[in-house]
Amino acid sequence: MADTAIPAQNAPETLDESLKASLIKPSRGPMKILICSSELEPFAKTGGLADVTAALCKRLARAGHEVKLFLPKFKSVYQTGVRGKMSSDSLEIAFNGSSLPLRWEIYRDKANGFEVVFVVNDDLFHRESMYQDPQTGLDYQDNDTRFFFFCRAALEIAKSLDWRPDIIHANDWQSALVVSLHKTCYADDPFFQNTRSLLTIHNAAYQGVFDKTSLAKLGDWAANQETARAMTHRGKMNFLKSAIHYADIVNTVSERYAVEIQSSPEYGFGLEGALRQRNADLFGALNGVDYEIWDPAVDTLIPYQYSVNDISGKSKNKLSLQRELKLTEDTRPPMIGMISRLTEQKGIDLFLEIAEDILSLDVQMVALGEGGREYVASLRELEKQFPNNFRALIGFDNRMAHTIEAASDMYLMPSRYEPCGLNQLYSLRYGTAPIVRETGGLADTISEYDPATGEGIGFVFKNYSSDELLEAMCRG
Ligand code: GLC
Repeated sequence: MADTAIPAQNAPETLDESLKASLIKPSRGPMKILICSSELEPFAKTGGLADVTAALCKRLARAGHEVKLFLPKFKSVYQTGVRGKMSSDSLEIAFNGSSLPLRWEIYRDKANGFEVVFVVNDDLFHRESMYQDPQTGLDYQDNDTRFFFFCRAALEIAKSLDWRPDIIHANDWQSALVVSLHKTCYADDPFFQNTRSLLTIHNAAYQGVFDKTSLAKLGDWAANQETARAMTHRGKMNFLKSAIHYADIVNTVSERYAVEIQSSPEYGFGLEGALRQRNADLFGALNGVDYEIWDPAVDTLIPYQYSVNDISGKSKNKLSLQRELKLTEDTRPPMIGMISRLTEQKGIDLFLEIAEDILSLDVQMVALGEGGREYVASLRELEKQFPNNFRALIGFDNRMAHTIEAASDMYLMPSRYEPCGLNQLYSLRYGTAPIVRETGGLADTISEYDPATGEGIGFVFKNYSSDELLEAMCRG
């Protein structure tokens, strides 16, 4: 790889040392970047991965890089009505002794300058939901086939387009195999000779774990002992672990989380050893957020725009949300927002332990999210108990997510672990003080407010304990 470094001696004398250091870091010309992700706002989303993927593609394209983002054509993509330019070729991908048909469509995001390549196979991807059967709440049984197909397809499509990527970027287990395939199945392919790979871990708890027999279905290239060892973990085929082994570099979405996932099973979910082995190549890089979308001064999804120079719109948004949700209309009691997948990760159980104490105070709360049935039932129960000051909105609603950020005085994120977290960052932009647990990206971005000095931007508690959470909320 040719680097165009600025020689140290050419850096202007007057610059301070740190700036000089950044100038002499190697910088490169435009690169071809192949990003694989199973989520992309607005086409397919279950969580923050979709937002971050969109923001990253946009930023890289604006920096002059050529970006192709590969995404399975899920049912939700069809529902957006978007159509890409159909491929003139179609290919087949070998799996488990037969072959699966592949088509693709290329859609150019003109406003942001990158391309989305939809990987099409309706049998595999055109289903009610993205990863799990909504009837049973369980993962689709053929997720190994589905996401192996997706990864193999990305590399085959790149070849078919004669588009040689400088970088392959995999995100989470669903696209992890693209990195493993590059180093095994395609190791001798001159087409990818100058390609380097990056795996980003957005959540180490989800690993793509399948029965060992999955490995045999992948074909001969996966049969040799060394490959089999790298792709297996504790007797199972593990997609994420294989990419941790094979990627040229691995990163995750905050510096604190990069340390945490190597330190204990609580954060590494069994992969801490594999991650420690890559310690020299494992980095934390905080997610960026898109202020063209998340900024109350330009946000068209909220009723009243406002900015740091004139925040009068904020209390108008609060009144408007109270009216919409039939809460007591009053700007005085603090309103606390919470937008979250309803999973254990997000600290919902902790919140439920103290919810009655909190809601008995002079506060209002609005929670938006979907997930575990038992959490939904508990939130509904609370709503019955506190009809004037608590609302639980079950489901995913983008307009409401923006509105809650704009209307709330505080934002609650008591996560058990949090690789980065985006809503605390959105909250900062919306003048909404985050209440967070000191973990992962929350620890890296939110500091405790000190009334004596006026420093600090939120309310932080350390241990996963409802008493500490209650104290932090009361400080707020
Ligand atoms: C996952 C993580 C979250 C992170 C997001 C985007 O959803 O749980 O912390 O912000 O990915 O990287």
